[in-house]
Amino acid sequence: MLCLGIEGTAEKTGVGIVDDEGNILSSVVKSLIPDTGGIHPREAAEHHSKYLPELFTEALEEAGVEARDIDLVAFSRGPGLGPALRTVATAARTIALTLDIPIVGVNHCIGHIEIGRLTTGAEDPVSLYVSGGNTQVIAFEENRYRVFGETLDIAVGNMLDQFSREVGMGHPGGPKIEELAGKSSNYIRLPYTVKGMDLAFSGLLTAALRKYDAGAELEDLCYSLQETAFSMLVEVTERALAHTRKREVLLCGGVAVNRRLRMMLEKMCKGHYARFFMPPAEYCGDNGAMIAWLGQLTYKYKGADRIEDTTIIQRYRTDQVDIPWMEESKE
Ligand code: ATP
Ligand code: FE2
Repeated sequence: MLCLGIEGTAEKTGVGIVDDEGNILSSVVKSLIPDTGGIHPREAAEHHSKYLPELFTEALEEAGVEARDIDLVAFSRGPGLGPALRTVATAARTIALTLDIPIVGVNHCIGHIEIGRLTTGAEDPVSLYVSGGNTQVIAFEENRYRVFGETLDIAVGNMLDQFSREVGMGHPGGPKIEELAGKSSNYIRLPYTVKGMDLAFSGLLTAALRKYDAGAELEDLCYSLQETAFSMLVEVTERALAHTRKREVLLCGGVAVNRRLRMMLEKMCKGHYARFFMPPAEYCGDNGAMIAWLGQLTYKYKGADRIEDTTIIQRYRTDQVDIPWMEESKE
């Protein structure tokens, strides 16, 4: 049984096809790269409506199947930018009605975790989900993925992107900051904000920009930004690991491709005799395959949505969704 998944919570448009055994037949993604400034919700929506038709065709071609071979369509209901989500939901409804197949709306954050478990073999991990829009430490407890810690203001990827834009390095900032950070080992003191199990990044951003304006070297600032932000993330993940007594850590989301973050987490995991996992780079960032796979799981355990229930949920919480397949896999 084939599920076609559509992703479009932010600036990436993705379409993927996954079968019911978890084989990824195709995954194609197109990113909106703004000329200046950040991502405007309306521009993200326009990007999705412009590229979804060709990505749909490409995904079918890459999988070597026809539209009539698709048995199920899944889309990300949220969390994300309203206009972007509405465009994707409309596309999914159109496909469901045209092909006369069932439809399921799924939670984007859980998509990251499930594609991570599928592609790495992690069973019951503490997940660190870090991207441009989200920063959460998540673990399965009592039928749901519970959020053990999260950002109180902006996401870590957003912080890196904003810093990069302000200093004229453009968007996305993560890869550029990683490159420059590698050229320095001179730590400039920046605010480290962990409150209980939660984190905050906007004070760090403001402080780094002030130091930049005051003439600090960009390489040193990139290095210090990474060291500070990633240490905060590792601290909260470590505490969640100790608290839940789980044996695995899964790193996912667009920021997961950062080598320094990976190295720091690997080291922490070693100290706790925990196994460290991260998905292949193409499944770290937003993609359609993660939505297709979560669509398969959701359909198998909960059935399809009625078309009138396929509304979007802009602030869709990770811990709002029952996860029956995890209870079963733990039994
Ligand atoms: P979401 O909708 O889940 O919030 P997103 O729209 O931010 O996702 P992703 O592809 O998951 O999309 O993540 C993009 C983020 O990843 C950007 O903030 C980008 O700067 C960051 N990123 C990409 N490469 C790196 C890197 N090498 N180091 C650090 N951050 C990176
Ligand atoms: Fe994402």
